[in-house]
Amino acid sequence: MKVLVIPSILSADLARLGEQVQEAVAAGADRIQVDVMDGHFVPNLTFGPGAVAAVKKAAPSLPVEAHLMVANPERHLEAFAKAGADFIQVHVEATVSLFRTVSFIRELGASPGVAISPATPVEMLREILPYVAQVNVMTVEPGFGGQAFIEHSPEKIRRLRSLSAGVEIEVDGGIDARTAPLVAAAGATCLVAGSSVFGFPGGVAAGVSALREAVASV
Ligand code: DX5
Repeated sequence: MKVLVIPSILSADLARLGEQVQEAVAAGADRIQVDVMDGHFVPNLTFGPGAVAAVKKAAPSLPVEAHLMVANPERHLEAFAKAGADFIQVHVEATVSLFRTVSFIRELGASPGVAISPATPVEMLREILPYVAQVNVMTVEPGFGGQAFIEHSPEKIRRLRSLSAGVEIEVDGGIDARTAPLVAAAGATCLVAGSSVFGFPGGVAAGVSALREAVASV
């Protein structure tokens, strides 16, 4: 199965975001992810719906994921859908009405994703899995780019894959040429990468290529 490479703009040079996104497009990225943080659900504060609109403008050919690391995400769904988000991910830990939230994302015309933090068991997703397009298994604590990969993550991914053969499994945090094959072998089908793409010494294209080569033989 093809493994998608999804650069996240958290590590991009924001002074030239449009150029960086277009570099990712030219490098063959499959999607772009916008890491939305509110300073409450996670300590960091990052982007709003305007960043999704800006990425859509810079890369109209690519789907854009809005990863909402925010409290009460249901308050923000319409704004991100209106801004053009093709996928909207909410954290299972951030809403008390996940079924209603997922249904509303679909009503808004976006694909619903659920994100799960490292300490949350995948079994919490059992009932919602049939209703989501994707699960984002956080392989670092949400909040910052450039963190160290949590080494037990592949085992967690295998447990999630045993709950659903078909759901798209995304991983996010510390994904690079070393960790990418570990998570792909466990069943991950989408790699979110920030620092290993936009911070790659050889540039964005080389960073995307390194990830693709790392999983080519998995
Ligand atoms: C965590 C962020 C990061 C980001 C990727 O809150 O969501 O996972 O997407 O960061 P890197 O690839 O630099 O670990």
